[in-house]
Amino acid sequence: MRKIVIYGEPDLRDISEEVKNITGKVQKIFDDMIDTMYSNSGVGLSAIQIGIPLRMLVINSTGEKKDLICMLNPVILSFSGSVVFREGCLSIPGVFEKLKRPERVVVEGILRSGKKVRMEADGIVARAFQHEIDHMDGKLFVDFVPVYRKIFIFPKLYRIKKKQIK
Ligand code: CO
Repeated sequence: MRKIVIYGEPDLRDISEEVKNITGKVQKIFDDMIDTMYSNSGVGLSAIQIGIPLRMLVINSTGEKKDLICMLNPVILSFSGSVVFREGCLSIPGVFEKLKRPERVVVEGILRSGKKVRMEADGIVARAFQHEIDHMDGKLFVDFVPVYRKIFIFPKLYRIKKKQIK
């Protein structure tokens, strides 16, 4: 298990790079990401959240082994629908906000086996894909919270940020 990078630490705004080769090191990063996600009861994690700026994500919406997705270089090919969903992030502890986003996505990427896949997702998985891919571009869900709600979460964000800058 690795330490999670918390809101206020500059790493979270870095742009992650594509993974060129699936080396042993890349597999180890996946293992660490899975451990870290499960230990913190998360449904998803991007490598940047453990301080590694590579386009890698893990998602598990149920906690069951069969539902684990480990993907490299994911790209969203299309979006459809729209749904409001309460979102949180392991890097922003204690902050949860309802956010409107597309309901379904078609994602293309590479599994840790090296297999290229295209998958359609909805529900929590579609939400997690969007959230984790945002992380790879240095974006956080709180960036998308409407201004009238930002006023409410700002004090919490400020407190989290202050703890990071010592
Ligand atoms: Co997150």
